[in-house]
Amino acid sequence: MLCPGGGKVMARLAAWAVPVALLLSAGHAQGADTLASILEQPAGWCHDGISVPDLLDDGGMPSVEVIVVQAPLFSTNPKIGQKLRWVGLFHTALVFVQSVNGNAKNWTLEFAAVTNVLGSTLPQLDEENRTLHWDNAARYCATEGILWGREHWTQMFEPVMRLTAAQVSQLFQGFVLPLNNTQRSAKPRYQLWEVVSRDPTAHQPLVQDITCGDGTSWVLHHATTVLGAQLRSDFQLHYTSIVVPAEAVEPANVSDPEEWQKVFDYFREMVQVVRGKEAALARLFDVLWMLPVKYIYDSNAASYFRVIGNSFPWLEVRNRPLPLHGPPWLEPVAPRAAPVELPLASVVV
Ligand SMILES: *[C@@H]1O[C@H](CO)[C@@H](O)[C@H](O)[C@H]1NC(C)=O
Ligand SMILES: *[C@@H]1O[C@H](CO)[C@@H](O)[C@H](O)[C@H]1NC(C)=O
Ligand SMILES: *[C@@H]1O[C@H](CO)[C@@H](O)[C@H](O)[C@H]1NC(C)=O
Ligand SMILES: *[C@@H]1O[C@H](CO)[C@@H](O)[C@H](O)[C@H]1NC(C)=O
Repeated sequence: MLCPGGGKVMARLAAWAVPVALLLSAGHAQGADTLASILEQPAGWCHDGISVPDLLDDGGMPSVEVIVVQAPLFSTNPKIGQKLRWVGLFHTALVFVQSVNGNAKNWTLEFAAVTNVLGSTLPQLDEENRTLHWDNAARYCATEGILWGREHWTQMFEPVMRLTAAQVSQLFQGFVLPLNNTQRSAKPRYQLWEVVSRDPTAHQPLVQDITCGDGTSWVLHHATTVLGAQLRSDFQLHYTSIVVPAEAVEPANVSDPEEWQKVFDYFREMVQVVRGKEAALARLFDVLWMLPVKYIYDSNAASYFRVIGNSFPWLEVRNRPLPLHGPPWLEPVAPRAAPVELPLASVVV
């Protein structure tokens, strides 16, 4: 099992490893699938969502177990299945299990891109006035039961704290709902890429990612700092980041027509590569052609950055322990622990 007991793994990957894994997982019989068709989730995100769990009265006894759950990314897609564990890509969420006098109930809380990962990572293009539009809202979805069933969460199913029904209710009323029930264009926004400095002494990312793991961390952070809950002392939350190592980032001057042309063309090419009608295999070469990473759109800062000095292997997948933290615009970002490197072979399960 990968990352046993809060382990630390960093997979160093050439950028092609992820599309290759997707292709392998899609199987040779489906060679005609486009990258987009493989990556896109079925529509209707959170269609059966609830707002607040209907908890049983526990008279103030801590009756709710909070469980951190992880599964290989996109593993609900039968074309992909468990394959993305090969490259260390995991989805992270929380399950709440309440038991009172022999009655048990459970709920799942996940933080995700409202459109889908693809929709929030690629812009809509307006060719006529040469503008890019982003729809990258990230929100919480609470559902009854254990989402996709207990068997889905093959990577991790770890109880990490106990809460009273009143605390869970406060967690939703005081944190999840206020953050969640904002306009679609407001923060939090999904940010797939994390740009980090190649300078090993730099502890702040150049561009911070915001993914399912962060949403999970924010909830646990609120429970420990505001509600006074105790995180299991031997547990450290770790989750997947997709890292773009670079020497520096500089704001792209979007009022300079020449630079905007480059930014627009870069994202247009990316959209064509991923959404194109050609088979994924053919697109793979186009992906390679686009590297190194030249521009990043930081969705939470709503700014474009020029990426300087991104070189082979271009992208890394990291699963490292990170201190619990809240939304970065509400409080300072905690320094990130240096990743401990393990050989890639140890990632293959
Ligand atoms: C959060 O907002 C999304 C999008 O508006 C909605 O679908 C979801 O049910 C909300 N989550 C909660 C816990 O209310
Ligand atoms: C570009 O066109 C779209 C509609 O086609 C519009 O929504 C958007 O506001 C326009 N942007 C600018 C900067 O004119
Ligand atoms: C979670 O709830 C479902 C019903 O929603 C039940 O079948 C299952 O046994 C419960 N699991 C746990 C671990 O409590
Ligand atoms: C950005 O480009 C505009 C138009 O070329 C120019 O006037 C402005 O000075 C530039 N800003 C920076 C910070 O370079």
